[in-house]
Amino acid sequence: MNFADSLGHTEELVEEELARLLESEFVTGASERLVAAMRHAILGGGKRLRPFLVLESAHLFEVSRERALPTAIAVELIHGYSLVHDDLPSMDNDEVRRGRPTVWSEFDDWTAILAGDGLQALAFEILVASSKDDAHSGHGHGVRSSLVAGLAEASGVRGMVGGQALDLEADKLGTPSPPDSAYICRLQAMKTGALIRFSCEAGAILAQAGQGEQSALRAFGTKIGLAFQIADDLLDVEGNEATVGKAVAKDAAAGKATLVSLIGLEEARGELSRAVQEAKLALAPFGGRAETLLQAADFVAERDR
Ligand code: IPE
Ligand code: IPE
Ligand code: MG
Ligand code: MG
Ligand code: MG
Repeated sequence: MNFADSLGHTEELVEEELARLLESEFVTGASERLVAAMRHAILGGGKRLRPFLVLESAHLFEVSRERALPTAIAVELIHGYSLVHDDLPSMDNDEVRRGRPTVWSEFDDWTAILAGDGLQALAFEILVASSKDDAHSGHGHGVRSSLVAGLAEASGVRGMVGGQALDLEADKLGTPSPPDSAYICRLQAMKTGALIRFSCEAGAILAQAGQGEQSALRAFGTKIGLAFQIADDLLDVEGNEATVGKAVAKDAAAGKATLVSLIGLEEARGELSRAVQEAKLALAPFGGRAETLLQAADFVAERDR
């Protein structure tokens, strides 16, 4: 299977699983409007790159898709929640996401806030529920708590939430003025990098792999996380709105702290390819087994959506 087909296959699998989840006992008794907003947020779009990275990093260690799927879904739920809140009028004020109206513009801002909160809680609920029956799921209490701790760290104040705060402080408060490259790298590593890094590490956690292998995946995830946000910032300047599925040419006007605004397009492209090369080097210990993850690194840099 080529790379595009395997990513497409994961897109279908994740879509089916999320659709099933949002009709299951996990949402029984909830407000219909709230669940509709959650479905609007999470179904029908997205590259599903983070779940793909979870499944592929698990595959490196022969952990089955079935065992890795709840972790993949949990990461995508957190990502979906982060986008719903990111688009709010008080944050990036965006009306289009994945080619459709954002949750707040389809519903309203309080529904969007609650839908994001609901997706976040659901992520942790399914991560724990998936391993309630340890004999069935094949992993024990230690693996379960490492996954929960890792996802919480990657999504909280030391990760995505913390990075969003740095992003918005630069944008709304103008501090620091001007943001230097150390600030931008810290911001990006947290807001986008942490969740991507966790997605790559998750396979090693599920497999209870040794420290060396876990560190290699962590290093890979850190570098493609950085590459991913540089590519996102380049797409804001060079991308096509219909293809990327969201408004472009917004970051500079909003005063976003990006590498593109600091060092320009050409240099940012250079940083992007350096990050991809370093990501690939980190996978050297896995040899040919890591072929799909190597392709994922190229995809992150070359993507047009
Ligand atoms: C967009 O993420 C937000 C960033 C972290 C840069 P993606 O580009 O992965 O968005 P979807 O999930 O494919 O829509
Ligand atoms: C958002 O970064 C990253 C998140 C943690 C949601 P952006 O604000 O650049 O993402 P887009 O461009 O709106 O997708
Ligand atoms: Mg943002
Ligand atoms: Mg945004
Ligand atoms: Mg962006």
